[in-house]
Amino acid sequence: MRKNIVAGNWKMNKNVIEAQQLMFQLLQYKKNHTPNCEIWIAPPSLYLMMAKDLYENDEIGIFAQDMSEYESGAYTGEISAAMLESLDITGAIIGHSERRQYHGETDSHCNRKIKLALDQGLTPIYCNGETLEQRKSGKHLEVVKNQTEVALFTLSADEIKKVVIAYEPVWAIGTGETASPEQAQEIHAHIRSLIAEKYGQEVADDISILYGGSVKPDNAKEIFSQPDIDGGLIGGAALNVADFGKIIEGFS
Ligand code: PGA
Repeated sequence: MRKNIVAGNWKMNKNVIEAQQLMFQLLQYKKNHTPNCEIWIAPPSLYLMMAKDLYENDEIGIFAQDMSEYESGAYTGEISAAMLESLDITGAIIGHSERRQYHGETDSHCNRKIKLALDQGLTPIYCNGETLEQRKSGKHLEVVKNQTEVALFTLSADEIKKVVIAYEPVWAIGTGETASPEQAQEIHAHIRSLIAEKYGQEVADDISILYGGSVKPDNAKEIFSQPDIDGGLIGGAALNVADFGKIIEGFS
């Protein structure tokens, strides 16, 4: 079912005390407000258990920032989908541009990870988006089409409905530069139409597509008001509850 979602990607930030504080503040925020969207967080994996203990009633969705493309075995440093499932974690971010850039992740890796996540009943947040060079040369629609097809189009209709997509233009991540609401809407509509062509309009209408890339309190409302934008994947502004709360209130 298509939902409005604001998800915070904490990346490699915060020590354990700071992480606990922010988790607690978010819980208080959720108790004192009536958000018109789901609230999800992706803290560093070391802190997933702590989040699970704190959010006893699943008030806030808890996501890993990545997971392995393998089921189990000799993969030092990796975390499997089955491990996340055994902790009752909601899902995992897959294919974030920083994983692509620094760890050579491709859409074929993403495809395998998404399959494994779904097999374990986890929700994958699949990220894609073009680089500045690709946008400047007018290839953004084609790049996102290719990414979407390779990562997702081996899934069945029932499977793809369980995926959340995050369009994150690489040039807007952590740079303070945001895609204009119109630029983001264009790509979101494009992704939805690709899914509609392959799986039918009903399936496409069921999928939440988030925008990510320098979403801040002062631009969230306008971005979220676009017809094909169902929320945001937030990096820097998810690291304090004041900003994250204002972004959540972009869905008023
Ligand atoms: P940003 O990060 O909000 O700091 O640009 C977004 C993301 O990487 O998901």
